[in-house]
Amino acid sequence: MGMPSVLVLNGPNLNLLGTREPAIYGAETLDDVANLCREAAGRLGLEIDFRQSNAEHQLIDWLHEARTRVDGIVINPAAYTHTSVAIADALSAIAKPVIEVHISNVHKREAFRHHSFVSPIAEAIIVGCGTQGYVLALERMATLLAKKEAK
Ligand code: DQA
Repeated sequence: MGMPSVLVLNGPNLNLLGTREPAIYGAETLDDVANLCREAAGRLGLEIDFRQSNAEHQLIDWLHEARTRVDGIVINPAAYTHTSVAIADALSAIAKPVIEVHISNVHKREAFRHHSFVSPIAEAIIVGCGTQGYVLALERMATLLAKKEAK
């Protein structure tokens, strides 16, 4: 058996990380986050596929591909968290653990960011830990997938 594989999916505007509202999202770019994730994955024995799209349909198509291809999903759906029933439905169609990540503490921000369509489907939610949240999510995912393997 190969290493467990995890799709790390990023939603709209996260391609602007580092230049977009740095007071909220920090100075690291999405490439920095990808490298952080690759480093963590190497240490945890996970294979990762790190992707970002601004398009809802693209994120959904990738989730459909992931149904049979990956063992778990770490997702920062960005603004689609608060709006997209379609992404929540795509995640529900996958019988694999999902961990939701937000760089900022969404609960400290505008009320429209307090609701997530994804949270009821998520195994775990990590908010307000900055880009370290992705590493924490991968660590938790490794634990969940190791438990599965032991069964
Ligand atoms: C975000 C929080 C969302 O409310 C926002 O729309 C984003 C990023 C975060 O990582 O903090 O684009 O998901």
